[in-house]
Amino acid sequence: MTDIRNIVILTGAGISQESGIPTFRSEDGLWEQHRVEDVATPEGYIRNPVLVHNFYNRLRKNLAGAEPNSAHRALARLEREWPRGSVTVITQNIDDLHERGGSQKVIHMHGELKSILCKACGAHSVWDRDSSEDDVCPVCGRKELRPDIVWFGEMPYFSEEIFEYLASGSLFLSIGTSGAVYPAAGFISTVNRLHYPSVEFNLRPSLQHSSFTFSVYGKAGITVPDFVDKLLEKGSIDFLKKTKV
Ligand code: APR
Repeated sequence: MTDIRNIVILTGAGISQESGIPTFRSEDGLWEQHRVEDVATPEGYIRNPVLVHNFYNRLRKNLAGAEPNSAHRALARLEREWPRGSVTVITQNIDDLHERGGSQKVIHMHGELKSILCKACGAHSVWDRDSSEDDVCPVCGRKELRPDIVWFGEMPYFSEEIFEYLASGSLFLSIGTSGAVYPAAGFISTVNRLHYPSVEFNLRPSLQHSSFTFSVYGKAGITVPDFVDKLLEKGSIDFLKKTKV
């Protein structure tokens, strides 16, 4: 097996589930309880901005009561202790649990709950309280703020940087994502074109499971710390068995 240097990690809602943050596509998930078109599209925001602000205000409140779990902390430990290259977390999550768990290199490709976007000047400003249409942009002073979330039909953030990280990676981990939403769902195809190994961590096979070299099924709060311990101890992933399902 080739030498592992840079490690690129994609995370989704599943890594925060054990911290009490609901996922999107389970039976009690966020999208079962809300119409995506109403709360996660630019058109929904134009139709009813109050509803959209309130939706993200509720998520922000829920996040305030949540703590990072052992999977977030294990990835932070991997970043601190991995001796042979960089460890980068690319997250689809809008929570800040990776940062609070200790990770330094985190890319939020779908935006952040604790940021606000000004439609007038384009500024992204730190935001830690409820937002509404009456709030003014801390940079330009205009009342044009919207949640800093990448909605369906919008371009994810940091696409070029993400491609560069994938291009210089030598191990790809995908944790707690259903593989339903592109471009993140397509990262595994890029990795396979670059011919380096990949591991999927999930409760069950995701939509992309057959594209991964290895799969580890179970709760991320258990499987990820266990994997990180072994990777740091052995320096390779030879301890995994190919598990094509
Ligand atoms: N441990 C591991 N995996 C888990 C756990 C857990 N404790 N709990 C749930 N999962 C898995 C589920 O099996 C599922 O495959 O996490 C995945 C969560 O999938 P989704 O709810 O679809 O979340 P995600 O993949 O992050 O969604 C991607 O879609 O709606 C948009 O913008 C939103 O960023 C989001 C994107």
